[in-house]
Amino acid sequence: MNAATAPERAASPGFSRTVIAESRLAREKWTYTQASQICRNLEAGHVVFLPTTPIEIPAANRELLLGWKQSSSLYHKNIAYRPLEDRVTGLQKGEARQAENLRRILREYSQRSVEFLKTFLLPYAGKWKLEFASFRPIEERGRTARLHARNDLLHFDSFPTRPTNGARILRFFTNINPTQNRVWLTSQTFEAFGPLMVKRAGLPSSLDHPLLRGINSLARALHLRSRSPYDDLMLRCHNVMKEDANFQETTPKTRREFPPNSSWMLFTDCVSHAVLSGQYALEQTLLVPQAALLDPQRSPLAILESLTGRQLTV
Ligand code: SIN
Ligand code: FE
Repeated sequence: MNAATAPERAASPGFSRTVIAESRLAREKWTYTQASQICRNLEAGHVVFLPTTPIEIPAANRELLLGWKQSSSLYHKNIAYRPLEDRVTGLQKGEARQAENLRRILREYSQRSVEFLKTFLLPYAGKWKLEFASFRPIEERGRTARLHARNDLLHFDSFPTRPTNGARILRFFTNINPTQNRVWLTSQTFEAFGPLMVKRAGLPSSLDHPLLRGINSLARALHLRSRSPYDDLMLRCHNVMKEDANFQETTPKTRREFPPNSSWMLFTDCVSHAVLSGQYALEQTLLVPQAALLDPQRSPLAILESLTGRQLTV
């Protein structure tokens, strides 16, 4: 593996750029220093791109995934694989027949991705929390969803139902479409742009109202509430960005094309991103805790805590 900064675009400060890495060289040659350089690039809000995916996907698995029939439901979500429970969710009734095969394929993708990342992102290895993997069989162009669920609008990721309490959202994607690129837009990083959006969104009442603050601390002490002010702020920021049609139209954007059989990874909580088109991708999410970061002061949590002057985790 040999990391090099992409010469194709010297992005302006505050914008994500592409860092190209080759995964072909023997893994044992990959050093801690090289891995740290990749981690620092990710933490700075850059997209790390592997022109040839390091994840082996056997032909039979690929065939089954590419033969997946698009659901008739317009609001059908991506299919999720929960590695810790070894369970697939999000299947429609008619798809249940294939559930067992899909579970096996997604388990393999999840395990191989984690195995690769253990070396490639060595400083984080073993410190992350394994989150869901997903299969994205739906054509993204023209896909309909309610406003806050739309992925064709620029946003920083924040999970409405799975709070991270300050941990970072690292996502590893693979385009398994044999002919079609997956096309994204990216804009400013959280460092450059998040604080502005958060100021516009306003602080959540859980931070500002003394009574609510008291109720929340009591609930946390009793382990009744796990959602942190950090998660509330990030979700508000995510929503405000998607609601702002003027921002979506006028902000400077970079178009990114991820070709068939490539992989890419990024912290989706600090790279503003939108998917425009593409069908059939696999993805694995890892939650990287604050303590594992090499430049924790660049994280959304550190930025928001300095902005609000409060502790935002629970
Ligand atoms: C997203 O995280 O917004 C969607 C990315 C994708 O499916 O390519
Ligand atoms: Fe996203």
